[in-house]
Amino acid sequence: LGQGTLTGRRVLVTSGPTLEPIDPVRYIANRSSGAQGAAIGRALAEQGAEVVFVTGPATVPPPAGVTVVRVETARQMRDAVQAALPVDAAVFAAAVADWHVEEEARSKIKKTAGTLPALRFAENPDILAEVAQMGEGRPNLVVGFAAETDDVVAHATAKRARKGCDWILANDVSPGTGIMGGTENAVTLITGDGSETWERAGKDAVAQRLAQRIAEALQ
Ligand code: C5P
Repeated sequence: LGQGTLTGRRVLVTSGPTLEPIDPVRYIANRSSGAQGAAIGRALAEQGAEVVFVTGPATVPPPAGVTVVRVETARQMRDAVQAALPVDAAVFAAAVADWHVEEEARSKIKKTAGTLPALRFAENPDILAEVAQMGEGRPNLVVGFAAETDDVVAHATAKRARKGCDWILANDVSPGTGIMGGTENAVTLITGDGSETWERAGKDAVAQRLAQRIAEALQ
């Protein structure tokens, strides 16, 4: 890769879903193709950044030119993220499961007539909030995502404050938008200065625009 606007910068990207095992053959997960995360990793690498790409089992393959760290659970993703620090900027595009099954069964839960298994959940670490709220060693720029279906700006602005991140890229994932699993995205960037809505565009174009903004912010 040649000289880009992010040459010499180290950037972390999380992408894809996390899978949380129930037993050796079953899991719960969020829906995520990993397409937007892969596009962001690619755009950052094309700008010359050294990219650590921590990904759950996504549908879309990881981009070329990045260091890929494959994980399955949210707890593994947290450990991989911590191991990748320090970085100049971090983009949290993963669809992390909010909970894991408290006691993962070591053997397959048998189907028994007349009884249904009950699952108990425990909270997963909020990886974005942990990194955004760390003291020493915090990345200069921490970017989170917010998938919203209504009141996008209000909800995303509240999320930015709650998580303690610098920017939130909010996307409207209402049914009928075709964004979940699709090739386009419609996003609003929330910063400390307010919000700007970008015109609906391909996920690659959204990623390139974000990479450009990250380069400017790190300047
Ligand atoms: O709270 P919510 O899941 O809506 O927040 C979304 C943002 O937080 C995304 O950037 C996502 O990658 C990140 N996140 C995380 N760890 C979690 C939950 C969400 O990093 N456990």
